Amino acid sequence: MASQLLLLAFLAIISSIALASDPSSLQDFCVADPKTLDILVNGVVCKDSKLVDANDFFFSGLHLAGNTSNAVGSHVTPVNVAQISGLNTLGISIARIDYAPWGINPTHTHPRASEILTVLEGSLKVGFVTSNPENRHITKVLQKGDVFVFPVGLVHYQQNVGYGNAVAIAALSSQNPGVITITNVVFGSKPDISADILAKAFQVDENAVYNFQSK
Ligand SMILES: *[C@@H]1O[C@H](CO)[C@@H](O)[C@H](O)[C@H]1NC(C)=O
Repeated sequence: MASQLLLLAFLAIISSIALASDPSSLQDFCVADPKTLDILVNGVVCKDSKLVDANDFFFSGLHLAGNTSNAVGSHVTPVNVAQISGLNTLGISIARIDYAPWGINPTHTHPRASEILTVLEGSLKVGFVTSNPENRHITKVLQKGDVFVFPVGLVHYQQNVGYGNAVAIAALSSQNPGVITITNVVFGSKPDISADILAKAFQVDENAVYNFQSK
C-alpha cells in the first residue's frame, strides 16, 4: 500500500514536469475572450460562459484548397485558437495542408505539439529526424488514408511525390502548436545571425551564407 502510494506520488511528480501537451482545463471550457487579448497570461482569458455560443467552437473553410503558388509549393491552413477561440485551454488544433505536384512542406518543428497527419488525396513522402547524437531519419511514403505521427519538437517535412495535388489533415496536441521553420530561423532571422557564426556552424564559405540569407 505504502509502495503504491509512493509510486502514485512519483508518477504525479513526473507527469507534472513532463506534460507532452497543453495543461488540462479546470472547467468545461474557457473560450478565449477577444477583448482581453492584451492581457498577457499563459493562454487567453476566458469569455463569460453565459455569452458563449456555438460560433465560439466553429470554423468553416477546410473544404477550400490553399493557394500553393509559392516557392515551396504548399500551403497550410491552420485552425488553432486564433481561428476557434473555444480551443483555448483544450490542447488540440487542426490544419489542412495542400501540396502542388512535388511541393514540399519544408523542414520545421512544432515546439508545443505532437502531430498526427492523415493523407486525404495523393501520395506524400514524410519524415522526421531524431535528436542528437543519433539524428536518425525516419521516413515513409504515405498513400491516401495513411496516418503518420511526428513526435513533439522533432524536425519534420512532407513532400508530394505525385503528379497531382495532395491534401492532408494534421491534428496537433496544442491549441497553439507554434511553427519553427528551420531555414527561416537559421537564415531568415531579423536581424541576421552573423555570417561568420553560420559559416562555421555549416562549415561553408561566408558567401554561401550570404546567398542563403538573401533568400
Ligand atoms: C495564388 O498566389 C499567387 C502568388 O501570390 C497569386 O499570384 C495568385 O493570384 C493566387 N491565386 C489565387 C487563386 O488566389
